[in-house]
Amino acid sequence: MTPKAAVELVPARTKDQLRFITCGSVDDGKSTLIGRLLHDSKIIYEDQLTALAHDSARHGTNGNDVDFALLVDGLEAEREQGITIDVAHRFFTTPRRSFMVLDTPGHEQYTRNMATGASNAQLAIILVDARKGVLVQTKRHSFICSLLGIRNIVLAVNKIDLIKYKKEIFDRIVEDYIAFSASLRFTSIVPIPISARYGDNVASRSGNFEWYDGPCVLDYLESIDIQSNAVIQPFRFPVQWVNRPNLDFRGYAGSVVTGSISAGDEVVVATSGQTTRIKRIVTHDGDLVRAEAGDAITISLEDEIDIGRGALLARPTERPQVSGQFAAHLIWMDEAPLVAGRNYILRIGTQTVAASVTAIKHRIDVNTREHLVAKTLGLNEIGFCHISTALPMAFDPYEINRETGSFIVIDRYTNRTIGAGMIAYPLRRPTNIAWHPLSVSRNERAALKNQKACIIWFTGLSGSGKSTIANIVDQKLFTMAYHTMLLDGDNVRHGLSADLGFSEPDRAENIRRVGEVAKLMVDSGLIVICSFVSPYIAQRDMVRNLVAKEEFLEIFVDTSIDECARRDPKGLYSKARSGEIKNVTGIDAPYEIPLRPEIHLRTTGQTPEQLAEAVVEVLIARAIVDNY
Ligand code: ADX
Repeated sequence: MTPKAAVELVPARTKDQLRFITCGSVDDGKSTLIGRLLHDSKIIYEDQLTALAHDSARHGTNGNDVDFALLVDGLEAEREQGITIDVAHRFFTTPRRSFMVLDTPGHEQYTRNMATGASNAQLAIILVDARKGVLVQTKRHSFICSLLGIRNIVLAVNKIDLIKYKKEIFDRIVEDYIAFSASLRFTSIVPIPISARYGDNVASRSGNFEWYDGPCVLDYLESIDIQSNAVIQPFRFPVQWVNRPNLDFRGYAGSVVTGSISAGDEVVVATSGQTTRIKRIVTHDGDLVRAEAGDAITISLEDEIDIGRGALLARPTERPQVSGQFAAHLIWMDEAPLVAGRNYILRIGTQTVAASVTAIKHRIDVNTREHLVAKTLGLNEIGFCHISTALPMAFDPYEINRETGSFIVIDRYTNRTIGAGMIAYPLRRPTNIAWHPLSVSRNERAALKNQKACIIWFTGLSGSGKSTIANIVDQKLFTMAYHTMLLDGDNVRHGLSADLGFSEPDRAENIRRVGEVAKLMVDSGLIVICSFVSPYIAQRDMVRNLVAKEEFLEIFVDTSIDECARRDPKGLYSKARSGEIKNVTGIDAPYEIPLRPEIHLRTTGQTPEQLAEAVVEVLIARAIVDNY
């Protein structure tokens, strides 16, 4: 099994199912506890028991007794290793309730697995060995549970038989745990003395000691009130896909994450601010008047508005946050460390976007909860980061909504999940500002100028000729009476980006700013010509994604590094050679060649005038400007 990300592993849930995670170290008896629970609540069938007896003889560590841990540590490879290596889901049902238990390893290097399990659980059983008391790993597990939003804890003090059922020892462990966890925001901590091996207080109350008068583990799990408050939370509906079977029907399919909605209610598309009303709530079994958290539905709306996969619908009076920048806890799950400034793909619910971590504010030592200075995050490390996305995203703080407040980080080359995050709060924006729809549209502004607004983006090495060509294109369009604006790398770095250098994060920020400015200019109806080295594909794509598909043209000014260094119009390459400057694109910093530029200009043997003419011809062919 490969580890899956926090928000992805959501097997079918039933509304009254209790999802719980078990946390303990390798020999705290975690697997034995689950095995015992399943066995004593008569969940195991006979044939499984036979297999278990057979396996125990082969691998078990309990002499001739049946080793219940084997029932749980599913995979053969794991048995041989003696540790559980991934998150396993087990389902069982007693007459009173159905359960999903997420079993995760206690071994330190598997923080990511534990976090994955915890993100789906409503309750955690924290196992403590009565002989050892509260250990560093008990604290680590509790902290991760707290971070992942678990608020109900069962403190199972195991191996109580080995301390001769002594109340004083149990009491001291409970005291220790309560003292240490005071800042973890648990709403309930229920301590239970147990012996998983002998079944004391697991599925039935133990007759071995008088002093404990609380519930056994199973009784407690069956009776705890987890009636989720999902239905009374604000309405959240992430659109999974647009269902358009014929011209008369356009529906938006997905599951209601929280809250409820009725036909006729007003809704808003969180990121665009457009409002409309629910026309119909369609399901397999006919239309509904009202739908609530957990329901899979297709919604149709009164007005035709632009909604695609990833849109988040809410009530206008209860909007989620909308921001392109936020602070979040991030759990890193990849061998290759997180690098601030590098581009990744982020998925919040059904929204996917290019993103980068703009700052790692601190790393958290999971054992001591100390905040440490960090430049990167390694495998299984947890940090508090500032994140910037290419487009504004709709979300809630994780504290308020675990589903709309969590995200996964995906590697843009391998497509693997490499991190999971919990959003803390949006940045740089007061939370009470919503996007205000303007009455004059960008198309109307452009039409007044007799043109179509767009971004013409020149990319290439320094000295490749992009600014020269861009300048001629600008002159030509100006002469043709088009309204243009030219943004040039060197010029912008005198003002808007005067505080930035040439490291990867600085370049990312430079392009982000320029992209935002270019977008505003497109909104005002201009043809915006941009000339930037912009060496990273993801950053160019970030700008591309800011505007409509046909509004972005990438022009690759393709001049070899040797030719650029020979021309060296600004003396940049000779300075790089003498070691005077670092991070020079093409020398000791990368240039990622555009994979599918709209225009590919091979400059060798052509004059800038000819190349500019070629660009204008493409603009005419694409009907951005008219023939002249
Ligand atoms: S970008 O990488 O952030 O897109 P930008 O286009 O703004 O770069 O600026 C590039 C200009 O800065 C170059 O034309 C060059 O004159 C100057 N420059 C100074 N140092 C460097 C460097 N290390 N790498 C590239 N360009 C540099």
